Amino acid sequence: MVDQNQILGLLKTVVDNELNMDIVTAGMVRSLRVDGSSVYVNIALTSDKCPMGQKIKEEVEETIKSMEGVESVNIELSAMNADEQNALLEKLKERGSRAAAPAPPEKLPKKDIKQIIAVLSGKGGVGKSTVTSMLAVELSRRGFKVGVLDADITGPSIPKMFGVIEAPFVLEGRIIPASSKGGIKIMSMNLLLGGEEDAPVIWRGPLISSAIRQFFTDVDWAELDYLVVDLPPGTSDAQLTVLQLIPVDGIVVVSSPQELASVIVGKAVTMSKRLAVPILGVIENMSYVKCPHCGVQINIFGESRGHLLADGINTKYLGALPIDPALSKACDEGKIEEYTSDAFKAVAAKLLG
Ligand SMILES: Nc1ncnc2c1ncn2[C@@H]1O[C@H](COP(=O)(O)OP(=O)(O)OP(=O)(O)O)[C@@H](O)[C@H]1O
Ligand SMILES: [Mg+2]
Repeated sequence: MVDQNQILGLLKTVVDNELNMDIVTAGMVRSLRVDGSSVYVNIALTSDKCPMGQKIKEEVEETIKSMEGVESVNIELSAMNADEQNALLEKLKERGSRAAAPAPPEKLPKKDIKQIIAVLSGKGGVGKSTVTSMLAVELSRRGFKVGVLDADITGPSIPKMFGVIEAPFVLEGRIIPASSKGGIKIMSMNLLLGGEEDAPVIWRGPLISSAIRQFFTDVDWAELDYLVVDLPPGTSDAQLTVLQLIPVDGIVVVSSPQELASVIVGKAVTMSKRLAVPILGVIENMSYVKCPHCGVQINIFGESRGHLLADGINTKYLGALPIDPALSKACDEGKIEEYTSDAFKAVAAKLLG
């Protein structure tokens, strides 16, 4: 017995050249009946004057006859009614809008880097650079080859947290990144500014994107298991510039309990949609303090909202980090690699497994 679905599958190879669409998708196969070894098909042309009619008929006949078990093919040509024409019009419109959608901007090649994780936040000062550094340190402790790209070219934080002042140098046209005490490769605009770490860098968009391009392309990162990217704060434009160039695999969102969850949700969702990059999870930083005497947790900003935020973005909640004076001290003294925290270990375990 000849199978109807098999015939329909084969008829998808018959294309109406005027529509540039196969006759099944176009809704032109109005009826199909198999009776023993005979096949009866009704093909509805777009109009009774359709110039493609004869050609389509011949192709349909040839296609069905090529099937095993088919002895005769009876083809009737008809014309689409108004409903069928409208349905076809909708399909053509849908295809048109898909074709007209802007192509995603071209990203830089990924080089020898296995995973690129970008750290994003809704507003400044919530601990993006701190989380970037802690994540890099945790990955390095796990034995991975790690690099940090400080894409926030306006601030001094990353080199300062690692206590790195040595400038990257150029060898045979390649920029060799600086290295932390623990062997984490670091590239930051600040390292190129000769230690004037408080000098603000005021650059316009095109310059930012060419600096970032160089940081990624011309820097000899060699083989890396992970590159963690610290994104600039502020407007989503600066962050977009970076994310459109660098082939990021996933975004980690850092928030603080004072932030308006809805604002970050909207921003993160827009960002990841526009870039087709998944959000790996949400970390709530500076979520609470622990009393140094009795160890009780005090939610000075009220209830944690990290869960709500993660739900809103449809992603994992990775956990909360306390305000820890030992952390800010480690950052200030350039000793982030000596800092350990159970809360961050738990967050990293959720993120990295
Ligand atoms: N959990 C924490 N406990 C104590 N201090 C923290 C904590 N997280 C961050 N800090 C401190 O808060 C300050 C701001 O953090 P950080 O520079 O990481 O923020 P950011 O989001 O990168 O800021 P920007 O938007 O300016 O880049 C730093 O001095 C850092 O040491
Ligand atoms: Mg920062």
